[in-house]
Amino acid sequence: MSTYSITTPIYYVNAEPHLGHAYTTIAADIMARHHRRLGDDVFFLTGTDEHGNKVAQAAEERGLTPREHVDGLAPRFREMTGSVNASNDFFIRTTDPEHEAYVQRFVERLRAAGDIEKRTYGGLYCTACEGFYNEHDLVDGKCPVHGTEPVWLEEENYFFLLSRYQERLRQHYLEHPDWVRPRSRYNEALSFIEGGLDDISISRKSITWGIPVPWDPEQVIYVWVDALINYVSALTYAQPGADLESRYWPADIHLLAKDILKFHAVIWPALLWSAGYEAPRSEFIHGYLLMGGEKMSKTRGNVLDPFAVIEQRGVDPLRFYLFREVTFGQDGVISLEGFEQRYNSELANELGNLVSRVVSMIGKYRSGRLPGATDIDGGALAREGEAMVAAAGGQFSAVEITAALETVWEFVRRLNRYVEEEAPWKLAKDTDQAERLDGVLHGLAAGLRLVALTLHPVIPDTAIEILRRLGQPHEPADLLLAEARFDRLVAADVVAAPSLFPRIDVEA
Ligand code: MSP
Repeated sequence: MSTYSITTPIYYVNAEPHLGHAYTTIAADIMARHHRRLGDDVFFLTGTDEHGNKVAQAAEERGLTPREHVDGLAPRFREMTGSVNASNDFFIRTTDPEHEAYVQRFVERLRAAGDIEKRTYGGLYCTACEGFYNEHDLVDGKCPVHGTEPVWLEEENYFFLLSRYQERLRQHYLEHPDWVRPRSRYNEALSFIEGGLDDISISRKSITWGIPVPWDPEQVIYVWVDALINYVSALTYAQPGADLESRYWPADIHLLAKDILKFHAVIWPALLWSAGYEAPRSEFIHGYLLMGGEKMSKTRGNVLDPFAVIEQRGVDPLRFYLFREVTFGQDGVISLEGFEQRYNSELANELGNLVSRVVSMIGKYRSGRLPGATDIDGGALAREGEAMVAAAGGQFSAVEITAALETVWEFVRRLNRYVEEEAPWKLAKDTDQAERLDGVLHGLAAGLRLVALTLHPVIPDTAIEILRRLGQPHEPADLLLAEARFDRLVAADVVAAPSLFPRIDVEA
């Protein structure tokens, strides 16, 4: 059995979780579920990043201690993880004492490797980024990411000698051309490395909300170093008594958006090498969900509140929409109108209706009993269905989530055309066509079963509900992709039920 370990960034608890956080968590969940159904031994990690200035300032603004602030907000992130139906194996908080102790041991290893030096450093610091900027990186004197003015920060700090790892990093990139995907992000990180790496400050003297530097408790460890280490620290205490570190490190894939590319694709491998670990096997950098600006705004009332959508329509429509609408890896605009449109046209009409029609035709023409396989058309539909499973399976494995959805959807449309072409209501009127009608109804049910199994990582509850309505087994072992064969449809009674996706009245 191969292992597959996947992570999301750990989110800052400076404010409430929003759709952007939910997006990465859902993406990681889709990949985790996909790999579980390939039979892999999966570990899926997410959590919260709770130290640093950004969080301390947010606490101060609310008149709370940092501890009160994070203890109040971290559960909101945990709830978000649950409400998007993420199947994470662990939820780490960087204020967990086990993590804090692990971070201290980790930085001791950097020091033992001779990669730490004390220096005085002054620079322009953006608190929102928790990072320093060079003058020439600023746009009109402002942070290119946040548009706020960085402040001058000068301190005597401990430095990690990142420059020592420049050549090793460059080699790593050249030897592992797929380690950062998409290619554009690989190129961006590599050219950053080739542009020359400065050593980085890894401690802060001016703030106290952080993990003390073990050999100098006057300073706390820089929040980004603290945060990155979560990916390994979690493995040491997620399951008491189990050594997950040797089982799941190196991580197979870190998922993140392009805002934090440099930390993950440049600094993190160097820190790991210095401390004697292997680098993660890969990183996948996705784009931004665009919600601001002209296209979407609060005043226009078309901001997508994930929690409201989930409450109204269930979580699967949101999961589906985000990955169907925005090509995973690229930026994309989302809107409530767009959501409702796709919900109605694809989930309600194309998928939901198809399920209802198939179940009701089997009810009407075969008393609710799935007809057995009949050899019609030389097994053409079976071949198409299994080709769809193979193609979409490969696309999911390649993190081409949107392409995989398109592959499945072409087959959903094919099944809808099949209903129209075969017109079972006409076949039912002609007793000579009984065998053909059996074959058509069987084919539709077998095809829908393949659709449900293939889509399971994206819309897990709906997939199980489709299988249930078709009378098909749906325990975890039944959801393996290897089970997605046309001839595995079992004899069963179908179950009639209300629409899977009641149409949204867009006018209202
Ligand atoms: N705490 C750091 C990460 C430390 S990881 C060791 C951090 N936190 S964050 O709360 O700002 O989360 C950033 C991440 O949230 C992005 O990399 C991305 O995964 C996700 N997103 C936040 N807003 C998003 C969009 N609008 N669109 C897509 N992803 C978004 O950075």
